[in-house]
Amino acid sequence: MLEIGVQRKDGVVSSEARNVPIPEPAENEVLIKVVATDSNPKDWKASARPVKINQGDDIAGTVHKVGKNVHDFKPGDRVAAFHRMFAPSGSYAEYAIAPASTTFFLPPNTSFESGATLPLASMTAALALYQHLGLPAPWNPVPKGKRVPLLIYGGSSAVGTFALKFAKLSGLGPIITIAGGGAEFVKSINAADYIVDYRKKNVVADVQKILDDEGVKLHHAFDAVSEHDSWKHVLDLLDKEGSERGKITMVDPPEPMVSEWPQGLEFSRVFVSSAYGEPHQWCNEEQAKVHRDFAYVFYRYMTLLLAEGRFVPHPYEVQPDGLLAVEKGVQALYDRKVSSKKLVYRVADTPGLDKYQ
Ligand SMILES: NC(=O)c1ccc[n+]([C@@H]2O[C@H](COP(=O)([O-])OP(=O)(O)OC[C@H]3O[C@@H](n4cnc5c(N)ncnc54)[C@H](OP(=O)(O)O)[C@@H]3O)[C@@H](O)[C@H]2O)c1
Repeated sequence: MLEIGVQRKDGVVSSEARNVPIPEPAENEVLIKVVATDSNPKDWKASARPVKINQGDDIAGTVHKVGKNVHDFKPGDRVAAFHRMFAPSGSYAEYAIAPASTTFFLPPNTSFESGATLPLASMTAALALYQHLGLPAPWNPVPKGKRVPLLIYGGSSAVGTFALKFAKLSGLGPIITIAGGGAEFVKSINAADYIVDYRKKNVVADVQKILDDEGVKLHHAFDAVSEHDSWKHVLDLLDKEGSERGKITMVDPPEPMVSEWPQGLEFSRVFVSSAYGEPHQWCNEEQAKVHRDFAYVFYRYMTLLLAEGRFVPHPYEVQPDGLLAVEKGVQALYDRKVSSKKLVYRVADTPGLDKYQ
């Protein structure tokens, strides 16, 4: 089968199309015939390696084969799935492997292309809000009359947009988000109560005014950007004095890492690998087990939300030439040329697929 390996050197992304055997699922895994996939910023961030690896993590397709302990999926099922990052058999290929626990059904109203936008980015948002920040889940929302303000930095990014949608379902508010060129898109999803433009340079003052006007203190913030001092702005805004501790969770750790956080403030980094139970610096083994169970439940809950039309995937743009467009797509992410959408590749659009077996 065809597989695409990706590498980045000195800001230039290159790729390699190669012929590899169709992989076999292990006992708790699912082998999926990929119909559509997309790219994540991780694909360039983690591709400065000596070899070109198949970086694709978002799978949408049909189940081809299941491991012997998999009881909830069968061949032919329409699914989306989160591939184990950096493991072999990613989604830039005709067939890909995912843990059964991070695989979920796509209801009939959700296309494979839409489904491909979901697995990695939506789970990052869900882990940030519900595991790292400990906010109420959508199935047990904030009671009417109670207010839980939330700041989401980067509302037009895929992760930020999913966070906004989940925050709305959880009944959080006021929801304040920071966006730039994607502000109109953020407005259109109708989830944020306030949108502040980071290009105007007075983010902190603008958000503080909103908090003051609303008469609330900020205790929860998700920094879905973690660049350009975004986290420093968040720190200025979090309440450090009240009895409740302010919490910030970030998609990337601060650069350089802060040696001492302001007292009374809880910092964490969300890393989506905990969705399949892998511990990391800000998530110990015990917490990672909890995250794995949470991800199992939340992915299945997403199927319900999608089927009922209470949640929609991210906007996407199908790239010409299927998997052969991965190189260009990852380069566009590296060059920060993508706003408010995912770049999706359809395997069937790949020229010369019949050369591979
Ligand atoms: N730790 C993890 O497990 C994990 C998982 C997923 C993603 N991530 C990281 O999270 C980040 C977002 O990922 P993604 O897939 O959501 O990316 P994405 O959709 O490609 O993000 C692009 C968006 O970032 C926004 N942005 C850039 N600079 C900004 C700023 N200073 N303030 C506010 N918004 C800004 C842009 O907004 P405008 O167009 O409005 O200007 C643009 O829409 C990436 O750094 C990624 O590597 C980490």
